[in-house]
Amino acid sequence: MSQQFSSLKFWSIVRWWLFSPWLARTRWSRQGWYDAWECWKAVMASSNVGTEGEIAGWRDFMRRIQDCDVVVAVIGLGYVGLPLALTIAERGIKCIGYDIDATKISHLRNGASYIDHISAERIQKTLCRGSFELIDDVKGLARSDAILVCVPTPLDRSRQPDLSFVINTMREVARHLKPGQLVVLESTTYPGTTSDVVSPILEESGLTTGEDFLLAYSPEREDPGNESYTTGQIPKIVGADDARSLEIVTGAKGRAWGRGDLAWV
Ligand SMILES: NC(=O)c1ccc[n+]([C@@H]2O[C@H](COP(=O)([O-])OP(=O)(O)OC[C@H]3O[C@@H](n4cnc5c(N)ncnc54)[C@H](O)[C@@H]3O)[C@@H](O)[C@H]2O)c1
Repeated sequence: MSQQFSSLKFWSIVRWWLFSPWLARTRWSRQGWYDAWECWKAVMASSNVGTEGEIAGWRDFMRRIQDCDVVVAVIGLGYVGLPLALTIAERGIKCIGYDIDATKISHLRNGASYIDHISAERIQKTLCRGSFELIDDVKGLARSDAILVCVPTPLDRSRQPDLSFVINTMREVARHLKPGQLVVLESTTYPGTTSDVVSPILEESGLTTGEDFLLAYSPEREDPGNESYTTGQIPKIVGADDARSLEIVTGAKGRAWGRGDLAWV
């Protein structure tokens, strides 16, 4: 066993310590040093441990992300998922789109749009590039390296997000989850959903979060129809509970967007 140190985490701690306005008064005080030390210990505790083979596997994943040599699946091709899938495919990254609604899949396969501000021409062009594939069988997700989940989270009667779509989708994902895959929840929800709701469902597959597969959250900030800020122009926020998931999702999102203006939490 050997320990992999996450350089991304190291530099985020350094940046936080040097530039955080909250630490402005205490940065050079005993309390400031103590806070930095506590933070450092937390990072070391969360650093990934794995066999040489596993670490090489994750490094290879990172390299493939940098080379855009990955397959990304988008589940839920609605107002958020469809422009997201098209943006990824337009960047030359192979994208698989899946929706439970067979009519939507059929429309897209025929090059037709069901969303006003997304033109049929854009869909046809992306299909012609060969980087956008539509599937109606969830088993096809097994061919992907990353799975982005964009299903609805409507508010229920008590104005809480109804997670039934997320739960049903994650059960499907769990049935087909492969070691090494990255799962990213993009739906709007409350903090703690990935750790308290999604991770236990995915672990029913027998795989462990952060070790066998990666799990992250990246809330979608799409503003449908806004011509000034398209999907690819809106900075993404990413978060994960373990260092490896955070590192890979940050790399993946940064690459898919082709820019570094990406925040992580
Ligand atoms: N629409 C927006 O402007 C907007 C903006 C930011 C965030 N969001 C959030 O993004 C998420 C998605 O919203 P949306 O507007 O795209 O919803 P939507 O209803 O337009 O699309 C969701 C799609 O998911 C599909 N779906 C549902 N269950 C599925 C399953 N089990 N497997 C596969 N597909 C399934 C539906 O058929 C539908 O096509 C929500 O959490 C929403 O709050 C939406």
